[in-house]
Amino acid sequence: MNSISESFRNNPLLLNHIIPLDFNNVLKLPDSHAWTLFPDPLNDDDDSIPLIDLAQPHALSLIRQACEIWGMFQVTNHGIPITLLHQIERQTQRLFALPANQKLLALRSPDGFTGYGLARISNFFSKQMWYEGFTVMGYPEQHASQLWPNDHTIFCDVIEEYQREMKELAEKLIGLLLESLGLTPEDVNWFRNIHHHHHHHQDVLQLNSYPVCPDPGRAMGLPPHTDSSLLTVLHQSNATGLQVLRDGIGWVPVHPVDGALVVNVGDLMHIITNGRFKSALHRALVNNTRHRMSIAYFYGPPRDVKISPLMKLIDFDHPNMYRPVTWKEYLDVKATHFDKALEFIKYDAFMAKQF
Ligand code: OGA
Ligand code: NI
Repeated sequence: MNSISESFRNNPLLLNHIIPLDFNNVLKLPDSHAWTLFPDPLNDDDDSIPLIDLAQPHALSLIRQACEIWGMFQVTNHGIPITLLHQIERQTQRLFALPANQKLLALRSPDGFTGYGLARISNFFSKQMWYEGFTVMGYPEQHASQLWPNDHTIFCDVIEEYQREMKELAEKLIGLLLESLGLTPEDVNWFRNIHHHHHHHQDVLQLNSYPVCPDPGRAMGLPPHTDSSLLTVLHQSNATGLQVLRDGIGWVPVHPVDGALVVNVGDLMHIITNGRFKSALHRALVNNTRHRMSIAYFYGPPRDVKISPLMKLIDFDHPNMYRPVTWKEYLDVKATHFDKALEFIKYDAFMAKQF
């Protein structure tokens, strides 16, 4: 155990709020993890998010509709080698299969971003999640060598290649999303310069694990949230659990499709499109037969660049909705106001404060 968990060892109540359960040793859902979930009306499975082949001729208009209606879609012909998807899944599985005590060696520190631990949104909920995660920014050598002292290179190399491929895909997708609105990368200052070294994008890779759960009807993998990114690309293992909220319909499952990736619009994309694209509200449920895993890649602008609704999407009928923020500022707002974060950066609220 490292010093953080050490200091909380004698205080199980606090410990519970810092480290995930040792899920392997829990036969009954503890009260701390029991949520009150309302059974959903049955949804017609046919009406889920669109599956879009990027090579098909009408891909652009399908993308636009998907982003306006759902804020989420799945893609095929995305260019990520299937072998790499299998490799990252294998490494994710290898990490979460480690004994609980060993995973704690890479525990995320209270003011840190990377490493093993609870979902970052845990603070906003009184119940615990049936979830453990591992966050990566940059090359994961430090934490990986704590987990595998003699043997961390494979993990690091797979992660590095995955980050490289995902960055390329995310930038290609952002280009397509813009194009679908009649815009080009030229319309987004920082994005136009993204290939220059001094304009570095930011990204976060999040490995998610939802262990087999004895009482899935009362447990929550990841509660409803929107992503704070510009765009998120998610690879899910072959088990259902992800759901997206569709206005007027309810929670709709996003079933895994072999080889396809889930793309979801994040809060920053909602901001730059002046509300045209919807930041998808989604959650993850768990099940009692399969250990579900997912790998989420969050892409965003360089940390100190102000982003705001694009000029070409603002006119008399579509007034500017949001004030300029950097990703860093937005994350701070989100960390305080969570689901009210977008409300908080509304242009009106900003103007009111100026006068
Ligand atoms: C996330 C997320 C969903 C999933 O990591 O932000 O929403 O299916 N994950 O794991
Ligand atoms: Ni998410």
